[in-house]
Amino acid sequence: MNNDSVLRVDENTLSKDLSGNIYIVTGANSGVGLETTRQLIKQGGHVVMACRRVEAAEEEASAFADLPGSYDIIRCDLADLQSVRDFVDVFLNKYDRLDGLACNAGMVNMSGQPKYTKDGFETTIGISFFGHLLLTELLLDLLKQSAPSRMLILSSVIHAGSPKNRYDVHLDDLNFKSRKFSNFAAYGEAKVACVLYAMELAKRLEGTGVTTASVHPGWARSNFGSGGGFFMRMIMGMMRPIINNLTSWTNSNEESAQTSLHCLLSDDAPNHSGAYFSQHSVLYRDKECRKGGWPMTSPNPNARDMDNAKTLVDISRKLVGMN
Ligand SMILES: NC(=O)c1ccc[n+]([C@@H]2O[C@H](COP(=O)([O-])OP(=O)(O)OC[C@H]3O[C@@H](n4cnc5c(N)ncnc54)[C@H](OP(=O)(O)O)[C@@H]3O)[C@@H](O)[C@H]2O)c1
Repeated sequence: MNNDSVLRVDENTLSKDLSGNIYIVTGANSGVGLETTRQLIKQGGHVVMACRRVEAAEEEASAFADLPGSYDIIRCDLADLQSVRDFVDVFLNKYDRLDGLACNAGMVNMSGQPKYTKDGFETTIGISFFGHLLLTELLLDLLKQSAPSRMLILSSVIHAGSPKNRYDVHLDDLNFKSRKFSNFAAYGEAKVACVLYAMELAKRLEGTGVTTASVHPGWARSNFGSGGGFFMRMIMGMMRPIINNLTSWTNSNEESAQTSLHCLLSDDAPNHSGAYFSQHSVLYRDKECRKGGWPMTSPNPNARDMDNAKTLVDISRKLVGMN
């Protein structure tokens, strides 16, 4: 792989005038979310940055001052369902349209043991999947009213697992309450859930003009993995310079935002509602997937199973307090 392997949004798409369009990007203060936000504002869009650390978002957003578009920052902690509900209340009081919802935020619990959110979800799946599921479900009416509109959710190459070990959602124990915890399995399963959610939602929204996508952004040179305990932070601190030098394997944050931008802005993405879109990645264990694709078929059959998707979403809507 070299830098020519990076899948890039075409110039026509990146020069569309987004004036009047309103977007929400979660985790907009860092990495992939920050670069997605920057490009939308560059094209004249208005981005509501849904961040748990408002000060960090304010600091990053100061660089947007000279761009044609605009932004707003509203606090949203995806590890706290009440915070998600509060975010939606504030948003709906201020805005009456939503052209694109980018469910971008995510983390991996590197502590080696399960950690639970206030609402009892294991944090990795709690933030990546359950928090975003509630956010999306609460905004569905507005997305429908604003159609054509789009929703995307960040997954990861890790969801694919390997031919010998495909991750799956454990419908009887989504939150590692009765299984041995593993950082990688927790992350892989959470990201399978994200692929399944985009797929299920696309089916449910057929004919409404709202389309969905799940995304692997590439191996981003972002702040990802900087949480966790002291030893994990130390290991990641030592690894970061190595990762940053592997420039043919890893991607800048701007490159890592390309797949999300394609899903939000290209004319073609809505023709593949519910699909999985991936940047190139050496991390696919299935070699034929390494080139990525917009869209591409996930090599993990568990992430393509609509019955699995429907059952997951049914259970999960109840767990987040939706009827
Ligand atoms: N980096 C990669 O190689 C890679 C590969 C595959 C998939 N992804 C996915 O890409 C997405 C973006 O990651 P990134 O690489 O840009 O990492 P990043 O630089 O660490 O950004 C993650 C963002 O998520 C936010 N976040 C974490 N917990 C949150 C919570 N409880 N509520 C609200 N926001 C929260 C973070 O906020 P704080 O700044 O406050 O922590 C940050 O803004 C994630 O979903 C990740 O799983 C990344």
